[in-house]
Amino acid sequence: MTVTIVGAQLGDEGKGGVVDLFGDAADVVVRYQGGDNAGHTVVAGGEEYKLSLVPSGVVRGKTGVLGNGCVVNPETLFEEVDALRERGLDPDVRLAKRAHVILPFHRELDGAEEAAKADSDQEIGTTGRGIGPTYEDKVGRRGVRVGDLLNEDALRERLEYLVDAKRAVYEDIYGFDAEDADGAFDFDAVFEQCLAYADRIREEDLAVNAGDYLADRIADGDEVMLEGAQGTSLDIDHGNFPYVTSSNPTAGYAATGSGLGPTTVGQGEVVGIVKGYLSRVGSGPMPTELDGDLAEYIRDEGGEYGTVTGRPRRVGWLDIPMLRHAARVSGFTGIAINHLDVLAGIDEVKVGHAYERDGETIETLPATTENWDECEPVLKTFDGWAEFDPETVAEEGYEALPSEAQAYVEYVEGELDTPAYVLGVGPGREESIVRQNPFE
Ligand code: IMP
Repeated sequence: MTVTIVGAQLGDEGKGGVVDLFGDAADVVVRYQGGDNAGHTVVAGGEEYKLSLVPSGVVRGKTGVLGNGCVVNPETLFEEVDALRERGLDPDVRLAKRAHVILPFHRELDGAEEAAKADSDQEIGTTGRGIGPTYEDKVGRRGVRVGDLLNEDALRERLEYLVDAKRAVYEDIYGFDAEDADGAFDFDAVFEQCLAYADRIREEDLAVNAGDYLADRIADGDEVMLEGAQGTSLDIDHGNFPYVTSSNPTAGYAATGSGLGPTTVGQGEVVGIVKGYLSRVGSGPMPTELDGDLAEYIRDEGGEYGTVTGRPRRVGWLDIPMLRHAARVSGFTGIAINHLDVLAGIDEVKVGHAYERDGETIETLPATTENWDECEPVLKTFDGWAEFDPETVAEEGYEALPSEAQAYVEYVEGELDTPAYVLGVGPGREESIVRQNPFE
């Protein structure tokens, strides 16, 4: 069967930890979208691993697949694989031949567009990893795929067009000098670089027809976990456009981005990952945003600094309309609520239960960002809970969680009409209350 993990908010919900927790029962962990804009921290055997591209399951000896819906920077892939090997692991990674490749000029163009937008305060606050420009070239039918790297003639033909086209955009639209971009727009340099990527992909036999590969593994009885990166409100279709990433973290794309059928994904479970409050990196509305001492307290307690960029994250109360939207879009069969420990010790914990806009009360996310920006949260207040020992609570189970925290959890379950399979009460793998493992 499959279990799909989807971020229910704005990324950084602690998906890596849940993937790690359930991943024990999985044989294969698949990323189906995004690239090295994601950040996962996995603690295993007392060691901390920070990964942005390679599926975190490889740390525990699972096969990690980068599906066709991903955009892959081979530099990051090789660096992460090398770093894992240096630490004594033998990561088993497969790369979809249909996945698009992030090339050096994509990263340059990401920065150039952000700089151009900054003049009118319209920047997205991207991670600068070239994600948007690579997906643009995919949809524009001019990108380079992993399979193209392995065919020198096809590669040359594609790059001849692509490098020229991108150089023109960089210089004529954004006004930069391509000569200053460290060879990123130089055909010979990019071509050589691609051939070197191809050599290593061939040597290590990384490239697969991912859909076929996964279907075979399922036919052999293997369990597959599909790991979404980012979160629902960063989804290019269902998020708050334009402050989004350029792919679909929501569950529908688990099928498209892996090559498995929607029926295969739909017969499995879809688990939405919720952080007990809200955080956001980058621009865009956030009706429940907090500032001042309380924001700083939560940011520090929760370690709310970007894994990829190190930027301090904006923080706010849990936004229930955002979660109702996420639960509907992805059809959650279960949820995990993380970071309940971070809220411990706060006198009153609030949630944005609904929004008010133009005298109207609304319970789900407006479809346009401008309307969302005009929303005032209708807050609901819960009694706070005292600090607790995460390991004891995790060991003794749900009943050991302070009753005020239980009331909070049950409210969220009720609003989403979805059971909480897991409650995260600390950063370690052992610091989770597991009420149901979707693989069992
Ligand atoms: P991009 O994906 O680099 O194009 O960035 C687009 C938006 O998505 C920015 O607001 C980023 O901060 C945000 N974003 C991308 N990846 C992540 C992530 O893994 N966690 C949280 N935010 C992310």
